[in-house]
Amino acid sequence: MKNVLILGATSDMAQAIAKKFAAEGWSLSLAALEPEMLETIAADLRIRSSAPVEAYPFNATDFESHAAFYASLKTKPDVVVAAFGYMSDQEKVRNDLADIRRTIDINFTGMATMLSVIADDFEKRGSGAIAAISSVAGDRGRQSNYIYGSAKAGLTVFLSGLRNRLARKGVHVMTVKPGFVRTKMTEGLELPGILTAEPEQVAKAVYKGLEKKRNMVYVLWMWRCIMLMIRHIPEFIFKKMGM
Ligand SMILES: NC(=O)c1ccc[n+]([C@@H]2O[C@H](COP(=O)([O-])OP(=O)(O)OC[C@H]3O[C@@H](n4cnc5c(N)ncnc54)[C@H](OP(=O)(O)O)[C@@H]3O)[C@@H](O)[C@H]2O)c1
Repeated sequence: MKNVLILGATSDMAQAIAKKFAAEGWSLSLAALEPEMLETIAADLRIRSSAPVEAYPFNATDFESHAAFYASLKTKPDVVVAAFGYMSDQEKVRNDLADIRRTIDINFTGMATMLSVIADDFEKRGSGAIAAISSVAGDRGRQSNYIYGSAKAGLTVFLSGLRNRLARKGVHVMTVKPGFVRTKMTEGLELPGILTAEPEQVAKAVYKGLEKKRNMVYVLWMWRCIMLMIRHIPEFIFKKMGM
């Protein structure tokens, strides 16, 4: 039975992804910051599916613990889905230095350190797949969200480089850019319905993308077109748009 390790397993998207993998007959290793919620999610999955479900404490910003965390897994994964992330209201806290650091530490540094440990193991084994959730916010810096966006831009480039390193080693790396998704992270934000996905749509897109060995997945196709246009607006116009 194949095993998937889900990092940030209490995220709304990650919970939908875990259900999808469980329904497809995979065993699950779930890792998250908050142990009580994690245990509730793991217990629910154990009832829903006959597949084994293990739960592990995991803190993305405890960088030094990442190698020991990975070594502690009872089953080494075939697939890793990295879903943890953090976004604050940047317009309110853009001069909060602790929040800037937290945003970069969780979305970029934590991803880079944890995925580097996993990449080494996958490279040695000559197999495995990594899917990590980045964001269209990383495609171009906007005044309203450039701190989170720059951390996700760093993650997107990191994943691109990792894919480049591992492509000839039998290891696949997939970047997921979900667009807007209705989750805890976007609670209270006014999201345009047509451009907003449900976590279950993300789960399907991640599962299918991994099956088809996609390099980059935009969950809703419109986002690929929107970001293509946004990336091509000349900077002298874009800077005056105040997006
Ligand atoms: N929702 C969107 O519109 C959207 C769009 C594009 C990309 N994304 C990305 O999609 C991913 C999933 O987010 P979501 O929308 O499902 O939001 P979410 O439900 O708020 O999930 C974020 C998860 O990250 C976890 N996390 C935060 N800090 C952590 C740390 N130090 N160590 C381990 N886990 C930590 C959170 O755990 P706690 O709750 O315990 O803090 C939470 O489970 C994130 O990477 C996010 O940036 C979201």
